[in-house]
Amino acid sequence: MTENFRADFQGKNVLVTGGMGFIGSNLAARLLELGSTITLVDTLHPKYGGSPFNVEPIKKQVKIIIADMGDEKRIAPIIPHQDYIFNLAGQVSHTDSMSDPQHDLAINAASHLAIVEMCRKLNPQVKIIYGGTRQVYGIPQYLPVDEKHPVAPIDYNGVSKMAGEWYHLIAHRTYGLRAASLRMTNVYGPRMRVRDARKTFIGAWFRLLLEGRELQVFGNGRQLRDLNYIDDVVTALLLVAAHPSSDGKIYNLGGDEHTSLLDLARLMVEINGSGSYRLTPFPAARKRIDIGDYYGDYTKIHRETGWNPQIKLREGLRRTLDYYIEHRKHYW
Ligand SMILES: NC(=O)c1ccc[n+]([C@@H]2O[C@H](COP(=O)([O-])OP(=O)(O)OC[C@H]3O[C@@H](n4cnc5c(N)ncnc54)[C@H](O)[C@@H]3O)[C@@H](O)[C@H]2O)c1
Repeated sequence: MTENFRADFQGKNVLVTGGMGFIGSNLAARLLELGSTITLVDTLHPKYGGSPFNVEPIKKQVKIIIADMGDEKRIAPIIPHQDYIFNLAGQVSHTDSMSDPQHDLAINAASHLAIVEMCRKLNPQVKIIYGGTRQVYGIPQYLPVDEKHPVAPIDYNGVSKMAGEWYHLIAHRTYGLRAASLRMTNVYGPRMRVRDARKTFIGAWFRLLLEGRELQVFGNGRQLRDLNYIDDVVTALLLVAAHPSSDGKIYNLGGDEHTSLLDLARLMVEINGSGSYRLTPFPAARKRIDIGDYYGDYTKIHRETGWNPQIKLREGLRRTLDYYIEHRKHYW
């Protein structure tokens, strides 16, 4: 697959917003292997998943701009040179979006609108992939959730993410901008934020496990999720970017292993060789925005690009644990 991608990305200029975060930094590492010329833009806001260590191995081979992606003065000059833009910058905490909705809106909507407008004016030929989310569907009306499922987010973050996505899609529809959205589900793997549960409970669980502390599973623990390992998500982003007919389209990701949170906690403890977990009542702030069971239907991206998740949950969790055993001092 890497060889196929080489034709699409070798020698190409690629901008990754949120490039020092979890997904952006993993994508940047893969793009570098493919021979792209890479620019990363990130605010490195301490509340989010960005970290200088995420790009430590590649920092000399990429250009890094510490700035808001919507800052026209800093970002507009680099837009005309790009062949691809991956818009992965974001405020990802559901609970933070409820306590500070204006900040959430500024990042996920206003900054994305700003870069979409820069592209429209300065580089209408660029291919843009937006980092979308399953959160826009809210509480599933049926499972698995496909792209035709109604959108009905149940937290402010879902609304701002939907706005960010639709600025891209409307710019396609109105101006022909070559934009597509990949709606991701729970992504996990090396370089994710594990300091706290701000981003996702899974990150916090890795840390608790390695500190020998108990994992807290909210509610009855039977909520189903499908998780995607980061390498599979990076492949999906590249496939959608390279696919000639993806302009203006939305694609869901999803996994084959639908796992209850309780089973996930058990598996993590088993793989780690020690640890414990406990069911605990939902904190009120989380219960209000819980979506219950979710798993996605990835038939469309499979049909159009051939994407399939490759990394089994057990293998992905093992690799992730190994990463944090080795690098914990940079992430705690
Ligand atoms: N991780 C997941 O499970 C998941 C699932 C669905 C969708 N997504 C989406 O994928 C994208 C990337 O998520 P992630 O997990 O890598 O999160 P992350 O927090 O690790 O990375 C996001 C990065 O964006 C940066 N950032 C935030 N606002 C910015 C701005 N205005 N300008 C420039 N940089 C800014 C942050 O500093 C951070 O480094 C997000 O948009 C998120 O909504 C992630």
